[in-house]
Amino acid sequence: MDVTISPSILNCDIANLASEIEKVRNADYAHVDVMDNHFVPNLSWGLPVVEAVIRQDILPVDAHLMIEDADSWAPAYAEAGCASVTFHAEAAVAPIRLAREIRRQGAKVGMALRPATDITPYIDLLPEIDMLLVMTVEPGFGGQSFLKSMMPKIRRTRDAISTANLQVAVQVDGGINRETICLAAEAGANVFVAGSAVYKAEDAYSEVEALRQLAKTHC
Ligand code: DX5
Ligand code: ZN
Repeated sequence: MDVTISPSILNCDIANLASEIEKVRNADYAHVDVMDNHFVPNLSWGLPVVEAVIRQDILPVDAHLMIEDADSWAPAYAEAGCASVTFHAEAAVAPIRLAREIRRQGAKVGMALRPATDITPYIDLLPEIDMLLVMTVEPGFGGQSFLKSMMPKIRRTRDAISTANLQVAVQVDGGINRETICLAAEAGANVFVAGSAVYKAEDAYSEVEALRQLAKTHC
């Protein structure tokens, strides 16, 4: 399975976004966390900052929308040129309609599940999306500890995708580092978001490469 590394810029030096993204130019995407202080108890940035990152044209943007009323807000991120737009299942009223709209605007579609949200009610939606994000921390902040208890959910998701013969990626986000990436890869994840592990490392570029190698070999 292809391994994708998507560093989260949430806790990088945001006054120097372009050079911070430049540091991880060997990654597949820049993971950009949008928070509205309603869906999660934190506020980051919105569309203008995401558009600025897209304009820098260093890496394709993987937008993770931790916002209420995804149905209204998410399509604009696709229209702006994000390569991938992930909305939370808990924040979407009509997820199929929304997924189709994001696709129509030319982006890949991701759907995220908070730790307490089960995959079972969403299995029939898998053909509508390109990526299912299993949160491995409670969304809202970087630097939290990886929830090992999410491994069965990753397995169930990967099994459902294989059973349906689909090509849906499984992303994990939260607490991913050199140890936890192995557990997540072994459980069936293939897209890895890492914030602090990459930006707190001495050399972010080498950390991306190290994480990629570990995920490929399942450690
Ligand atoms: C958390 C965000 C993450 C966060 C990950 O809600 O979705 O993308 O930045 O940060 P780490 O890797 O530090 O857990
Ligand atoms: Zn995220």
